[in-house]
Amino acid sequence: MQTANKFYITTPIYYVNARPHVGHAYTTIVCDAVARYHRMLGDDTFFLTGTDEHGQKIVRSATAAGLTPQALTNQIAVEYRALWDHMGITYDKFIRTTDAEHKRGVQELFRRIQKNGFIYKGRYSGQYCVYDELYVDSAGPGAPCPECGRPTETVQEENYFFKLSEFANKLLKHYEQNPGFIRPETRRNEVMAFVRSGLRDLSISRSTFKWGVPVPDDPEHVVYVWFDALSNYCTAIGFGSPDKKDQEQFAKYWPADVHMVGKEIVRFHCVYWPALLMSAGLPLPKSIIAHGWLLFEESKMSKSRGNIVRAETIVDVLGRDALRYFLLREVVFGQDGSFSFDAVVQRYNADLANDLGNLSSRTLSMITRYFRGQVPYPAPKASHKPADDAIANLAGEVIQSYKELFESYQFSRALEAAWSLISAVNKYIVDTEPWALAEREENKEENLARLATILYTCAEALRIVTALVHSIIPDSTARIWGQLGLGDISAFRLDELKWGQLQLGTKLGKVEPVFPRADKNSIEKMQQLEQSGNAAPSSAPVQPAGKGAVAGQVASQSAVGESRSVTSKTSAGAVAAGPQIATLAPSNTIVNDGKITIDDFAKIELRVGQVKVAEKVKGADKLLRLEVDIGTEVRQVVAGIAKAYAPESLIGRKVVILTNLAPRKLRGLESNGMIIAASFGEEGVPVLATFLEDVPVGARLK
Ligand code: MSP
Repeated sequence: MQTANKFYITTPIYYVNARPHVGHAYTTIVCDAVARYHRMLGDDTFFLTGTDEHGQKIVRSATAAGLTPQALTNQIAVEYRALWDHMGITYDKFIRTTDAEHKRGVQELFRRIQKNGFIYKGRYSGQYCVYDELYVDSAGPGAPCPECGRPTETVQEENYFFKLSEFANKLLKHYEQNPGFIRPETRRNEVMAFVRSGLRDLSISRSTFKWGVPVPDDPEHVVYVWFDALSNYCTAIGFGSPDKKDQEQFAKYWPADVHMVGKEIVRFHCVYWPALLMSAGLPLPKSIIAHGWLLFEESKMSKSRGNIVRAETIVDVLGRDALRYFLLREVVFGQDGSFSFDAVVQRYNADLANDLGNLSSRTLSMITRYFRGQVPYPAPKASHKPADDAIANLAGEVIQSYKELFESYQFSRALEAAWSLISAVNKYIVDTEPWALAEREENKEENLARLATILYTCAEALRIVTALVHSIIPDSTARIWGQLGLGDISAFRLDELKWGQLQLGTKLGKVEPVFPRADKNSIEKMQQLEQSGNAAPSSAPVQPAGKGAVAGQVASQSAVGESRSVTSKTSAGAVAAGPQIATLAPSNTIVNDGKITIDDFAKIELRVGQVKVAEKVKGADKLLRLEVDIGTEVRQVVAGIAKAYAPESLIGRKVVILTNLAPRKLRGLESNGMIIAASFGEEGVPVLATFLEDVPVGARLK
């Protein structure tokens, strides 16, 4: 990948014989991440996607659906476009091969190649695979397609032919002189072997159906669907238009910098397309990058195998970034990768909710609390500890390695590099215990200076990671950027990123959790959506995770209610402080001797919760306001534990929460639940109930 001043990237255009699934979304998400990255480098970027609507395959699918080809293509093209919009894909143009401008451009390309003497009329007699829209010269009558294994059909037609055989040597020379033209290396080797084995002329028209672009001056024929489809990369940016502006646009963006394709369509892009361009006297794309397949239940996700998952399902339950992050982190780019709901949830929880989410909420809430929400001034460099410098140095290294890895399409490794910084900073926070510094009474000034250095270091590292991974997880990073008080992240230039740019005194924005934790319900929810085919229609508005649209575990920050302080005096080991239990259980559930029945106990809903946000309540020295993830939602709870626990020490901690306590108000704050603690001694010191083993958020105690 290069950082030219202009950057033109394309997805393949998608067949409209079936609805989009996660496999299609994968190609598009990769391109979107690359396009966003280039925009952040300041490149004049053009990102093209669209739909491939002609050919025999579409005619057959339409017939099977009882529709005309135009009706089917209109329906599916709208779905694709709506899905990309729903997913926040930043395409600059969505082309349909049924667009009049495209048809005109295809005819113009055909004419040019004809004029240059590379097209002739002949008779084709051989096998054709309708599924791949591929001439299979090597197969005899009835033989299966070597690409997909489906039966081929015998075709005998008078056709137009392209003199592909004349281009074998020119192509080989081009591959040799441009080692980056086909990537990865394995695909390059396959293509070179294919071309070395000899190329036959290619039939580029069909006369047995009409659903296509008519051959210029011979409307009995339509242009072969792959000639038609490949031309979109030129027609979309103005090729073949009489309009001067379109011509200028074509001159500006062509040749494409990247054609991103799945591995099964490499031959069309690396052999046919460059030969067609050479014959038309047009420059060749700079690179064709092939990715692997997304497998579901061990085979390529595809409609014909019936093993598809829709992108909307993941987006609507976990948010757009969860899907993007999973695909770029989990799948080693270029190789096949497996998809499963479990794996998506695991990645989301471990890397986003825990690692990045905790770094962000801890750092920002401590700055809010200790420095009134303004980025503090670090102490002079001379007083820095080796651990502070180590973070700054690591950040510098990570910026460089992230860029190198991303620019060579090693997205998974690039993310690993970014996460090495996140982990280091999370460890730095645990080691330096900033909350303890803040609470310590002696050497107040010295401690404050040290605290400022630590929190500046954390915030600066958070800013750097956020900028780096923005093109991959744009929604959540835009929110973190806003919470860091830095405004609109899209205005930030990645090529200028370096340590120390975070302005001292920057006023933080409103600090809110960005990645609500996903639990088992999320998996069930996704499975149900797939089974019922009920994912929200692509055109439904989507909000990023944490903004309220994430089913099953949305932060309902406006939740009402109250828990009372748990500090009232009871004996250690009690489930909870006495007075709360008394009001909790209606009097008719208490049997005479003070014992309750198991049915009574069953009414008490205790669950495992995880603290997402913790802060002191103004004017109440015993109270903390907590936001606790209980699996199905995030509850606001006001708890009387401020004397025993620093708010920062609670973030990420698993607690026991009484979830069916009637809501109440405390110090004007609504509290909805009660955190369970033992309480002992004269002061009623609370000790939070906790677990030695790892327990999932939302698990019920019974
Ligand atoms: N219409 C042609 C492309 C013409 S480009 C001039 C086509 N369409 S497609 O809809 O079948 O595939 C489009 C893209 O989606 C390809 O890059 C393909 O690899 C990708 N995927 C479809 N299923 C996929 C997976 N299961 N996994 C990863 N990508 C997959 O080919």
